[in-house]
Amino acid sequence: MLLSPLPCLLFLLLLPPPTQPTSPPSFIYNIFNSNQSTNLTLTGIADITGNGILHLTNVSSHQIGRGFYPDPIPFKNPATQNAYSFSTAFAFSIVPKYRKLGGHGLAFTVSPTKDFPGAQPSQYLGLLNVTLNGNTSNHLFAVEFDTVQDFELSDINDNHVGVNINRMKSVNSTKTGFFIDGNSTKQDLCLHSGKKIQAWIDYDAVKHQLNVTLSVFSKKPTTPILSLPVDLSPVFQDFMYVGFSSSTGVLTSSHYIFGWSFNMTGNAESLDLDHLPSLLELKKNKKGFEFWSVLMFLIFLVFCIVVIFGAVYVIKRLKRTEVVEDWELDLGPHPYCYKELKEATKGFHEKQLLGFGGSGKVYKGVLADSKTEIAVKRISRKSKQGPKEFLSEVSTIGRLRHRNLVQLLGWSGNKGELLLVYDYMANGSLDKYIYRSNNPKMILNWDQRFKIINDISNGLLYLHEGWEQTVLHRDVKAGNVLLDSDWNGRLGDFGLAKLYDHGSNPITTKVVGTLGYLAPELTRTGKPTTSSDVYAFGALLLEVVCGRRPIELKASPEELILVDWVWDKWREGCLLEVVDSRLKGAVNEAEVMMVLKLGLMCSSDEPLFRPSLRQVIRYLKGVVPLPEILGLLCDGGGKGGFVVKVDDSAPSLGKMKSW
Ligand SMILES: *[C@@H]1O[C@H](CO)[C@@H](O)[C@H](O)[C@H]1NC(C)=O
Ligand SMILES: *[C@@H]1O[C@H](CO)[C@@H](O)[C@H](O)[C@H]1NC(C)=O
Ligand SMILES: *[C@@H]1O[C@H](CO)[C@@H](O)[C@H](O)[C@H]1NC(C)=O
Ligand SMILES: *[C@@H]1O[C@H](CO)[C@@H](O)[C@H](O)[C@H]1NC(C)=O
Ligand SMILES: *[C@@H]1O[C@H](CO)[C@@H](O)[C@H](O)[C@H]1NC(C)=O
Ligand SMILES: *[C@@H]1O[C@H](CO)[C@@H](O)[C@H](O)[C@H]1NC(C)=O
Ligand SMILES: *[C@@H]1O[C@H](CO)[C@@H](O)[C@H](O)[C@H]1NC(C)=O
Ligand SMILES: *[C@@H]1O[C@H](CO)[C@@H](O)[C@H](O)[C@H]1NC(C)=O
Ligand SMILES: *[C@@H]1O[C@H](CO)[C@@H](O)[C@H](O)[C@H]1NC(C)=O
Repeated sequence: MLLSPLPCLLFLLLLPPPTQPTSPPSFIYNIFNSNQSTNLTLTGIADITGNGILHLTNVSSHQIGRGFYPDPIPFKNPATQNAYSFSTAFAFSIVPKYRKLGGHGLAFTVSPTKDFPGAQPSQYLGLLNVTLNGNTSNHLFAVEFDTVQDFELSDINDNHVGVNINRMKSVNSTKTGFFIDGNSTKQDLCLHSGKKIQAWIDYDAVKHQLNVTLSVFSKKPTTPILSLPVDLSPVFQDFMYVGFSSSTGVLTSSHYIFGWSFNMTGNAESLDLDHLPSLLELKKNKKGFEFWSVLMFLIFLVFCIVVIFGAVYVIKRLKRTEVVEDWELDLGPHPYCYKELKEATKGFHEKQLLGFGGSGKVYKGVLADSKTEIAVKRISRKSKQGPKEFLSEVSTIGRLRHRNLVQLLGWSGNKGELLLVYDYMANGSLDKYIYRSNNPKMILNWDQRFKIINDISNGLLYLHEGWEQTVLHRDVKAGNVLLDSDWNGRLGDFGLAKLYDHGSNPITTKVVGTLGYLAPELTRTGKPTTSSDVYAFGALLLEVVCGRRPIELKASPEELILVDWVWDKWREGCLLEVVDSRLKGAVNEAEVMMVLKLGLMCSSDEPLFRPSLRQVIRYLKGVVPLPEILGLLCDGGGKGGFVVKVDDSAPSLGKMKSW
């Protein structure tokens, strides 16, 4: 009786303890540390992302990626040769390159090695190859999450979970899905949806039962999707490695493991899916990085552009001021930047065109800075003048200031092109209003005409006498008389004659000036004087009264030359007949007669007979009466001089005695 329990006791003592290993490994990764030596052994293309996700494979084809727990784990009681129970949970995600087409899959693996020499990707999941497949000496246990249906391996579909022992053909497998507690219907689940999926694998070494459970939630469902009776004791060796292997083939996916818990003494702790690192975060990080780098690049680019433009501007500025200082033009008109004027005139757009001067096109513009309205005259400078002479010329005329002159505001020179900037004259030039042939919208009345005549005489006087040196206009004509918004007459285009070559323009003759306004002596001597300006002014007086051009080609032969026609009418004693009929007689006859006679006087062929501008103004203002024109000495052509009786009462007529 005493002996009976002894052998049992002895037997028990002889046996190694039938327990789990002394320090049963259990671990949990809620995040993977990128230091693989302390955490995971990575092989193939596997790596750990910046935010702690095990990235087994990317979407490169025919690749293998593995992540294994670094240390071997005792899986079998060496004495009894019975496998130990184990439990594991992990969260994964399969993100295919092409939506709906997953590229193979991943497998939770228990194997005697971490290296898998000769293993192949694709359907072998980086675990086996065609020769090794099925060999019991592989000692391989795997639970595969497969997204490709391989008929050779008898896969049931392209979205299944299978249990593989030593071979890639599954011992048992099932369509992916999961159960919700209290609902016996298997919920659909697509492995390669990119969703975070949690898997639980539990092996009960006593019951020889293996359960595989899936869910998209953190809580483990009570019902597994795969539960099969299996004894893993022959499969396992004493020490095994656990981890994940994944592969891509022609079709590819990114395979991710977010967290992993493993326990050999009890149920593995479920993972809290919401607190694992996420792909969104990863993408955000990547995007964030891209966003920041793009932003930084753009800022850098803008900075560079600003610096370059700034430098160019400063250099230009320096150059420009240098030029101006060099030529002492600080008192002269403002040098504009070509671009500024180009912008102001909308790139010299045809819509901005105000007219064609004898010297070039005139554009309307608005300066961007000051919103000042300007007129920009664009002339191609063919003059042989050097830039220095040109600038001194421009600076001279720019300093002429008179209320009856169109103010030159500035200039810009650009590649043989000259831009002159003037005050903008709202009502344009006089010729638009007085010539019948221009069909004006509005007819100027006598008072307006008389005022304009007075204005222009003042402007011209200023040019001749108001400046330290005599400035000749050389092109007085209706087209150069401009009208501001208050209908004041202003003389434009003065002093420019030297600046450009009139020779190229058919309207103007070789001698500077315009036909019909050209004093006869000019064609002989070619030397302009104040007197030749007066001649042109005389022609202007006549045309303002008569409302026609100095030379009207459409008129009858006797009316062809305005001056001659007015002379004829004067001789006939019916001078008022020449007055613009559109005025319908609504004129101050005394003024009209005076202006006509003054016009004839100024238009005398003999320069000495012409009054000076100062005298002209006296006549116009009525300070002194016009000298009586006594007669006319015809020289055959009717264009001779005329003799006037000098009115001795007029003190200013001393000079006229020489007439
Ligand atoms: C990685 O782990 C090794 C071994 O524990 C350690 O020596 C090393 O400092 C670690 N490196 C980092 C970056 O954590
Ligand atoms: C992973 O490595 C880090 C340090 O590198 C360590 O603190 C952590 O405990 C390791 N995790 C596991 C599960 O070994
Ligand atoms: C995948 O990873 C490998 C190794 O890190 C790399 O060489 C390859 O360019 C990656 N492919 C893609 C598509 O990102
Ligand atoms: C499979 O792997 C084994 C072991 O590395 C190797 O000997 C064998 O040649 C491989 N077979 C193929 C077809 O690659
Ligand atoms: C199984 O593999 C072992 C070792 O690699 C080899 O000796 C044996 O011949 C293989 N058996 C079969 C059936 O291929
Ligand atoms: C797989 O397991 C189910 C029960 O879970 C069983 O009905 C089926 O026959 C098994 N299939 C194979 C191939 O063993
Ligand atoms: C169980 O799940 C299925 C599929 O999602 C659903 O149609 C059904 O209503 C659910 N049953 C219960 C009792 O919740
Ligand atoms: C496997 O699942 C069944 C329910 O289907 C359960 O009774 C059993 O305890 C589970 N086994 C393990 C090892 O979790
Ligand atoms: C392993 O299981 C034991 C017993 O249930 C438990 O006390 C322990 O916390 C678990 N460890 C892990 C890491 O899940």
